[in-house]
Amino acid sequence: MKGDIRSYRGIAPTFGEQVYVDPSAVLVGDITLGDHSSIWPLVSARGDVNFIKIGARTNIQDNCVLHVSRKSSGHPEGHPLIIGDDVTVGHHVMLHGCTVGSRILIGMSAIIMDGVTVEDDVIIGAGTLVPPGKTLRSGYLYVGSPAKEARPLTEEERAFLPASAENYVRLKDDYAENVESV
Ligand SMILES: CC(C)(COP(=O)(O)OP(=O)(O)OC[C@H]1O[C@@H](n2cnc3c(N)ncnc32)[C@H](O)[C@@H]1OP(=O)(O)O)[C@@H](O)C(=O)NCCC(=O)NCCS
Repeated sequence: MKGDIRSYRGIAPTFGEQVYVDPSAVLVGDITLGDHSSIWPLVSARGDVNFIKIGARTNIQDNCVLHVSRKSSGHPEGHPLIIGDDVTVGHHVMLHGCTVGSRILIGMSAIIMDGVTVEDDVIIGAGTLVPPGKTLRSGYLYVGSPAKEARPLTEEERAFLPASAENYVRLKDDYAENVESV
């Protein structure tokens, strides 16, 4: 099942094995989606003035907005959006021109701005705002607006990160078989 997929200036999104894209999602331009990743209802992603790369087994939940920044004299590469493997992006998250590692949970309605780097194994609480250029270091929970380091992750939370991604791999397989327009 594929959503509303559009090319921009001759470049179209490309998909790995067994991805799921909800039919209401809009994906435009230079977007790469890795194996077993999923895009949920009403996600809007524009790989127009730069590229978007999403790794394997990553889920982008309902109403997320994904965009990038163009190249400029101050930022010769601009700000692409790069998301790693086994990442859970909660509902209504805004990801703009940032680099997100692997095994990460981004809580509902978080906003992550240009030039941010999120290292591997991080949880970002619901509603968190991460200002431009910040680095969130591996192994910590961040909350607040602006985001602050709250505490180290527990062992249970670290184990939850790949488990959450795996849950969404199972859910997208179930959707691929069982959701039908009526
Ligand atoms: C931050 C979070 C991980 C909980 O962390 P926690 O340490 O277990 O937090 P607790 O529930 O024990 O609360 C500790 C304090 O943080 C506050 N807090 C909890 N979540 C918060 C958030 N997202 N932002 C700011 N403060 C938060 C609590 O109110 C509490 O404050 P207090 O000490 O003044 O009473 C969780 O609330 C969260 O935001 N999870 C994201 C869930 C999500 O969006 N999933 C994606 C959808 S599938």
